[in-house]
Amino acid sequence: MRRPSGSVNFDNHGRVVLVSGGASGIGRAVCEGFAASGAQVVCMDVASPTSDPLDTRITFLKGDTSQESDCQSVVEETVKRFGGLDILVNNAAVQPPTSYVSLHQVDSSDWQRMLSINLSGYHYLAKHALRPMLEQRSGVIINMASGQAHRTARQVPCYGPIKAANIMQSMQWGVEYARDGIRVVSVSPGAINTSLVRASLEAQGGPQKLANRHPLGRIGEPEEIAAAVLWLASPGASFITATDLQVDGGLGAFGAFAEPYAEG
Ligand SMILES: NC(=O)c1ccc[n+]([C@@H]2O[C@H](COP(=O)([O-])OP(=O)(O)OC[C@H]3O[C@@H](n4cnc5c(N)ncnc54)[C@H](O)[C@@H]3O)[C@@H](O)[C@H]2O)c1
Repeated sequence: MRRPSGSVNFDNHGRVVLVSGGASGIGRAVCEGFAASGAQVVCMDVASPTSDPLDTRITFLKGDTSQESDCQSVVEETVKRFGGLDILVNNAAVQPPTSYVSLHQVDSSDWQRMLSINLSGYHYLAKHALRPMLEQRSGVIINMASGQAHRTARQVPCYGPIKAANIMQSMQWGVEYARDGIRVVSVSPGAINTSLVRASLEAQGGPQKLANRHPLGRIGEPEEIAAAVLWLASPGASFITATDLQVDGGLGAFGAFAEPYAEG
């Protein structure tokens, strides 16, 4: 099956995009997808990009999304440098390997860390991004949720419920700002080939088992999530708001009653 090359045919010239957690993984693919389609992109991350240098259309601004002051200053700096903010992609989130335990075993510092980045971080960035979007009377906010927002797994007592809250954030904000020209949606990926998933492969039964849980027989690539984000941010998705899109190789439809695929 042909997979996307990463260059999606959308025209984003003249649009300003802010992506949190854009230094690696899905966020990086989203930054590169928008830059390749002509957008001016700001990547906000706690860590500097480690691999190849970022595209010249991507500006890196260091910041921690769990700190409201960082979120405010990154949004203000984006607007100051590029004259507005058209698209926010709330993507920065963590899932520490030590959080794969039952609830009574959860280390409170893991819980607080996930709560402050994965939930408060989305809230703070959206709150401050809405100010320029309301002035412009246009904007798109995309929250990266997860397949784990939709269904249970053993030993995911914190990450899953917080990801479900990310979907509800999209629904609440999407309804609240629908008449202001602002759309808000979330994307729920299946397992995607990034360091976040590689760090938890053992807890998920190993690479073969994880791939086999997806009816397409493999995990996804970051560019396949970026392609969905670019489409949702495009005028082609102008009637889509306050909802969630699962981009998961069929994982979500694969019921507990279904016969497991033979491992190849
Ligand atoms: N990889 C998957 O299989 C998968 C599946 C479902 C959902 N997701 C979601 O997709 C998003 C991206 O995941 P990924 O797999 O690319 O993760 P990743 O670990 O590869 O990248 C996350 C990025 O976020 C940055 N970051 C972490 N904390 C931050 C903070 N406080 N402020 C700013 N930046 C911060 C990291 O430095 C890193 O660059 C997350 O929201 C994750 O929950 C991933």
